[in-house]
Amino acid sequence: MARMTMEEKVGQLGCFADMHRPFAADVNPEVAAQSASEVLAEVRAGRVGTLFNGVGAALGREAQRIAVEESRLGIPLLFAADVIHGMRTVFPIPLGEGASFEPELARRTARAAAIEATAAGLHWTFAPAVDIARDQRWGRGAEGSGEDVLLGCVFGAARVRGFQGDDLRAEDALLATPKHFAAYGGAAAGLDYSQVDISAQTLRDVHLPPFRACIEAGALTLMSAFNDINGIPASANRWLLTDLLRTEWGFDGLVIGDYTADMELIAHGYAEDERDATRLAFTAGLDISMQSGFYRDHLPALVAAGVVDRAQLDASVRRVLELKDRLGLFDNPYRSLDPQREADTSHREAHEALARDAARRSIVLLKNDGDVLPLRRAGQRIALIGPMAEDRDNLEGCWVLFGERERYVDLVTGLRAALEDADALTVCAGSGLEEALPGGIDAAVAAARAADVVVLALGEPQRYSGEAQSRVSITLPPAQQALADAVVASGTPVVVLLRHGRALALEGGVRDAAAIAACWFLGSQTGPATADVLFGGYNPSARLPLSFPQHSGQQPYFYAHPRSGRPELPGVTEFKNRWRECTNAALYPFGHGLSYTTFDYGAPRLSTSRLTWDGTLTATVAVTNTGSVAGEEVVQLYVHDRVASRVRPVRELKDFRKVAIGPGETVEVGFELDRRQLAFTGPEMQSEAEPGAFDLWLAPSSVAGEAVQFELLGPGVE
Ligand code: NOJ
Repeated sequence: MARMTMEEKVGQLGCFADMHRPFAADVNPEVAAQSASEVLAEVRAGRVGTLFNGVGAALGREAQRIAVEESRLGIPLLFAADVIHGMRTVFPIPLGEGASFEPELARRTARAAAIEATAAGLHWTFAPAVDIARDQRWGRGAEGSGEDVLLGCVFGAARVRGFQGDDLRAEDALLATPKHFAAYGGAAAGLDYSQVDISAQTLRDVHLPPFRACIEAGALTLMSAFNDINGIPASANRWLLTDLLRTEWGFDGLVIGDYTADMELIAHGYAEDERDATRLAFTAGLDISMQSGFYRDHLPALVAAGVVDRAQLDASVRRVLELKDRLGLFDNPYRSLDPQREADTSHREAHEALARDAARRSIVLLKNDGDVLPLRRAGQRIALIGPMAEDRDNLEGCWVLFGERERYVDLVTGLRAALEDADALTVCAGSGLEEALPGGIDAAVAAARAADVVVLALGEPQRYSGEAQSRVSITLPPAQQALADAVVASGTPVVVLLRHGRALALEGGVRDAAAIAACWFLGSQTGPATADVLFGGYNPSARLPLSFPQHSGQQPYFYAHPRSGRPELPGVTEFKNRWRECTNAALYPFGHGLSYTTFDYGAPRLSTSRLTWDGTLTATVAVTNTGSVAGEEVVQLYVHDRVASRVRPVRELKDFRKVAIGPGETVEVGFELDRRQLAFTGPEMQSEAEPGAFDLWLAPSSVAGEAVQFELLGPGVE
């Protein structure tokens, strides 16, 4: 630090597009501001600390050699990238993986992604996204774990552990960055980059907990969000980045601004010009500026003028250097830059197997009337219809920058491989993704009529979700809807496979199909994983991490909504909390998912109905597999605070466990609960539980089960 010039210091606070290496071009606007040689000249001059979204060990090694050997102080570079749900091997989109209700699975896929990413010359991923998404119009829900706070916390923490591994200095440790801090998912009307006007309590109870959980899991960096929160842009929000994050939470890692977020303070109308934007972002607590170059261009003068405190500048620079040190870069700047390791790691059977397992564990069986599923591997004529049947361009979902596309296995290939008689399968597109095909519907109906069962592969094109992909209507494209309506009307039983980055509003033939499976974007092993579920090689065990509404117009729609003073009542239509056109009940609620077996729940049993202030309550339920095949059930614990000083949600998920149960077997599933899980942010901003009566459910979904009651006793009451 003592030897660094001002220019070298602000250099460490800059993160720029890695134009020196093959680059992920189309995920940010105007990335090609510099040429490869200009980037290397900056490295040589010690004017850049981090490069992002380039890939490759050999070229990374060359850039690192320039930093270490040719820059004056030899400070190593950090190489960052968006590795969200896989590197070469692609796992399901995080939302899909959330449906597994298996955080340990997310830890393992993040670990595999880290192994592949660090082999390809990366140290740092801009993941996990832990934005809570309660409005399905918003396209970036695909990157998170759905609408629920607890899922957001446990999946975020699991991914941090997976990316980083046990030892940050290890060759395969990938630094994690929970994002987007904060409340990015709260965008008004689900329109990406829009304002977030939110109560301080909802901010604290819904949007902030996943970040806290990630920090507790070891996250050392956060990325600030693009949006404003109640009028103050997150990336220049001193309360958020300093008062809360550093003073209240004691975070000592660093905060990187999202891509040009400091520059965007001008467009927000929050900063006058570049210098003002730099001042506002930096003094609020944003350590690293991504791509705008504002810190490089304006911080030195701001420090010289005494507008920015030199000590604050030094503190940020120190955070960057410390991070590099914690990764071991000062001892071994060439860690994670070994071309031989890159070649050896390029394809791992174990990662493909994990991708297949993760994918089938993410498929939610929403409906299975008449037990149309599982299908038979022989003796059944199957028509595979729909634009996703042979599609290879919509397998991975959003934010896959470096996937090995040649290795992806599409749906038709996976199905064919699973059949004993491959001739039993006929394939017909029926329509394009967005446009009708001439004669397509007629051909599809003929194929359906000639088959015993139809597998109808529909969905959103993958570019409908991800950044800047907001939708006004969360339905299937009309051409596909018309196809589904006609095929279902053919009378042959139809199994709909949906590909999607959000909850969809299902209509007509899709809604009426005999069976429906939510398949998200499943990644490299889409075909084999889907075949595993379709033919019963894997008994589906996933549950919805979000609510499927009745209609697009219900958004934002989520199960844990606060209670209304005029709740909807069956049969009462006027002056009630209801829509004119449809019921409030979800079409498929949060937590819902079927299996090829059935589970019966006993009544929940509580160790006590009087939970003392510092005590623990055990809630237990007997779950019986009443079918004839083994299955996995997700037992969900919900609570509801009956009377409180702020209106409380109708139910909130507080714990869950996935358990394997053999046919005819009964298992006891027990959970411990204490008052910390009952706490919420009150009217005076106090975070505490309130004594009084609670309902508790141990149930297979957010709308199922019978409640039992307990009472939380006040402090000192026995
Ligand atoms: C903008 C996105 O919001 C963020 O998630 C991503 O990490 C950066 N671009 C860098 O690509």
